[in-house]
Amino acid sequence: MTHSCACRNDERRVVMFAGKGGVGKTTCAAATALHHASSGVRTLIVSTDPTPSLSHIFEVGRSPRGNKPPQSLRVEEIGVDRVKQMWDEKFGREVYGVFSSFVDIGYEEFVEFVTEVLPGMRDEFMVDYIRELSLKNEYEKVVWDTAPLGQTLGLLNMPSMLGKHLKTAPRIYSRLKLGADSRRSVLGIIRGWEELSATDMEFLRNEVEFVIVTIPEALAVEQLDGIFAEFGKHQLKIRRLVVNNVIKDTSSEFLLTKARQQREYIDLLQNRYPDLEKIELPMFSREIKGIDRLQDIGKGLFQNTG
Ligand SMILES: Nc1ncnc2c1ncn2[C@@H]1O[C@H](COP(=O)(O)OP(=O)(O)OP(=O)(O)O)[C@@H](O)[C@H]1O
Ligand SMILES: [Mg+2]
Repeated sequence: MTHSCACRNDERRVVMFAGKGGVGKTTCAAATALHHASSGVRTLIVSTDPTPSLSHIFEVGRSPRGNKPPQSLRVEEIGVDRVKQMWDEKFGREVYGVFSSFVDIGYEEFVEFVTEVLPGMRDEFMVDYIRELSLKNEYEKVVWDTAPLGQTLGLLNMPSMLGKHLKTAPRIYSRLKLGADSRRSVLGIIRGWEELSATDMEFLRNEVEFVIVTIPEALAVEQLDGIFAEFGKHQLKIRRLVVNNVIKDTSSEFLLTKARQQREYIDLLQNRYPDLEKIELPMFSREIKGIDRLQDIGKGLFQNTG
């Protein structure tokens, strides 16, 4: 598939920020969206984090003292309820089909089956939603701020999870003594989900680039191997690694000690992932809120690319 895109060289239209909790994903996503929108690119920043924070960062609805967000930027926060609602609109009938096949016979098994499938389906729906958005051509750049890592990994495991369900499905039918028609419909729905998974995974693989955000601390650095393995397994494109909260001011003994410790982890990252593009973002003395501060982060993120 080809797009006309105002993006630079091989940059993809959809960029997704992922990483462990609290490392600065939302901050980096917001600064990236602002960077593109400020140069006139029609940009959407969408957050699928259950706890809304974009409006907070952009200071939406308040009268900001500093600059206002550019016209070409749209901020969209999608809470869990909204996701569920969108999912119901799209798949509600089918879910009812499954439900009505199961409900008379073994409700407990039905609940077990559905609760196992649904959390993943929610993640999958987000991918599907963003895929549809990206097809519409309304935005030249879509920046996607994700929830902390746990859910991101769940999302990536969707297809294999569905595959597993597909394998256990015949056992479920025989246990529930379903008629031939319900069997076919249930199997069809599961197959449909699996196809959707494949389409969405293809979208993630071909149209999305990932920016992994981390901080130079033991736990965060150790978790990266798992993240990269997972992304590699699904052949997803990692554009770069952002190392956030790097201490640059070493004017006190305290800061110097901290900075030295961080440097060990940064060197470790360099040794472990020599070919990966890395960006160091300084730790600022104040939290990142409002356009002006986001611009400072943006300068750090795009220092070499202009
Ligand atoms: N370089 C930085 N300097 C100073 N403060 C920062 C920096 N980056 C992020 N912060 C602050 O750290 C806090 C967490 O950042 P942020 O919300 O972007 O993390 P997150 O990865 O999105 O968190 P979550 O996993 O909870 O969604 C925020 O208060 C933010 O302002
Ligand atoms: Mg966040």
